[in-house]
Amino acid sequence: MSYYVTTPIYYVNGEPHLGHAYTTIAADVLARHMRQRGEDVFFLTGTDEHGEPVAQAAEALGITPRELGDRNAVRFKELAAALNATNDFFIRTTDPEHLEKVAEVVQRIHDNGHVFEGTYEGWFCPRCADFKTDSEIEEGNTCAIHRIPLEWRKEDNWFFRLSAFQEPLERLYAERPDFVVPQERFNEALSFIQSGLQDLSLSRSRLKWGVPVPWDQSQVVYVWIDALLNYYTALSYAREGEDLTDRFWPADLHLIGKDILKFHAVIWPAMLMAAEIEVPRQVGVHGFLLLGEHKMSKSLGNVIEPFEVVELYGADALRYYALREVRFGQDGEVSPEGFEKRYTTELANEYGNLASRTLAMVGRYRDGVVPDATPDPELVGDFEGLAETVSGLLDRVEPSLALDEIWQRVKRLNRYVQDEQPWQLAKDEGQAERLDEVLYSLAEGLRVVSVLLLAFMPASAERLLAALGNEDPDLGRARLGAAPGGATTSEPGQLFPRVEPTEVTAA
Ligand code: MSP
Repeated sequence: MSYYVTTPIYYVNGEPHLGHAYTTIAADVLARHMRQRGEDVFFLTGTDEHGEPVAQAAEALGITPRELGDRNAVRFKELAAALNATNDFFIRTTDPEHLEKVAEVVQRIHDNGHVFEGTYEGWFCPRCADFKTDSEIEEGNTCAIHRIPLEWRKEDNWFFRLSAFQEPLERLYAERPDFVVPQERFNEALSFIQSGLQDLSLSRSRLKWGVPVPWDQSQVVYVWIDALLNYYTALSYAREGEDLTDRFWPADLHLIGKDILKFHAVIWPAMLMAAEIEVPRQVGVHGFLLLGEHKMSKSLGNVIEPFEVVELYGADALRYYALREVRFGQDGEVSPEGFEKRYTTELANEYGNLASRTLAMVGRYRDGVVPDATPDPELVGDFEGLAETVSGLLDRVEPSLALDEIWQRVKRLNRYVQDEQPWQLAKDEGQAERLDEVLYSLAEGLRVVSVLLLAFMPASAERLLAALGNEDPDLGRARLGAAPGGATTSEPGQLFPRVEPTEVTAA
């Protein structure tokens, strides 16, 4: 089966930060996990380069929007690579193929009778590039998201008859109770639809930076229409000489932050219906990482800057922390102290030590060969159905809960070492069989959690599996006892080495 997952395309008006890394990490975990399940995966990310926010940022810097796009698209590509993301393509909305396809789809929406000419008047946020409805306006006419003053704008535009799609959208929501997850975001989108939809201006006349409206070159396509279409256009040209649309469309999952829910859960499916294109299967919504003010950390300063964290601690540590610290779907605070604490107590101590102890004992007591035995009944129950549970949670876009399930087993294995004290068993020849069983169970437990962790922490889990002498990533074998003994182990080296605090110079 095919599986197509996307991240939002990131605005190039600023530098990448942890908030951007977050969606990419989550999408990559899902993409890797689905590949492990043998699915035919396509994972898309990229940059959103048109529109007012980008044009304004470029102007402020005294460069052209294209120059700004070129400069920052590289940074976002570097971010994906630094995070060890396995995206199959990186789309830029300035790609000529994208422009062409946007024009084609917009023309279809027009030809299908869903476009009219009108005048728009209203309060507009230049940072959102969006007109605001009454409920979205804060006191003193400010934007609820950006807290900047709104501008009163009046424009002759082309309009998309969004209001005509209220009923079809309500039907979609009635038929697909998991069209948007989590549930509270589904409810939020549905009540937005039910409160009545206003038509949406599909073009802008004051702006030159964008895709020209095919039937009226004096206007450009509204940046959100242009941007949303990336999910569809990319498939037509991501592989030279090949159109992947039939293979991967409709998308299985659009991962987004909660601030762009309306665009993805209301406007996007309506646009697709208007163009007679199938709507995506699901929109998965995450909350905000609150990157607030914190005490200064010795090594990370006072912000979690993704490039810096990866440089110091590796991508796996950041991937782990982002999904572990804040339950996916909810808002939560992140901090350098929190990061360092989890790195030390969970990654280095719980997982890293478990690995090095287990491998050292197999080395010392069994000459580096995993003994052949059956798994200890003591542990079997605790591992029963684990792979299915993790897969099920990831299907429900719950990566934090999935990671927690795995981590409970890491902790269980640590308790097992404490309880069984293999070093005591090793002193007594009469306990040789019992020691075989304990060491086999530990090696198997470690193998199972590592196979499941491959999607979350690919580099470390791979290294550990290699050290265990069994690199098979097959999820069907992520069961205690699925691999026989006999594998030759090796030293994995320090998986999560201590990071020396760097000197922080006061500014
Ligand atoms: N360009 C639009 C998306 C178009 S998709 C067709 C956009 N870009 S963005 O760069 O501003 O944001 C991209 C994503 O980053 C959004 O999903 C947003 O929620 C996410 N985040 C930005 N800051 C964030 C946090 N502090 N925490 C979590 N995610 C946040 O919107």
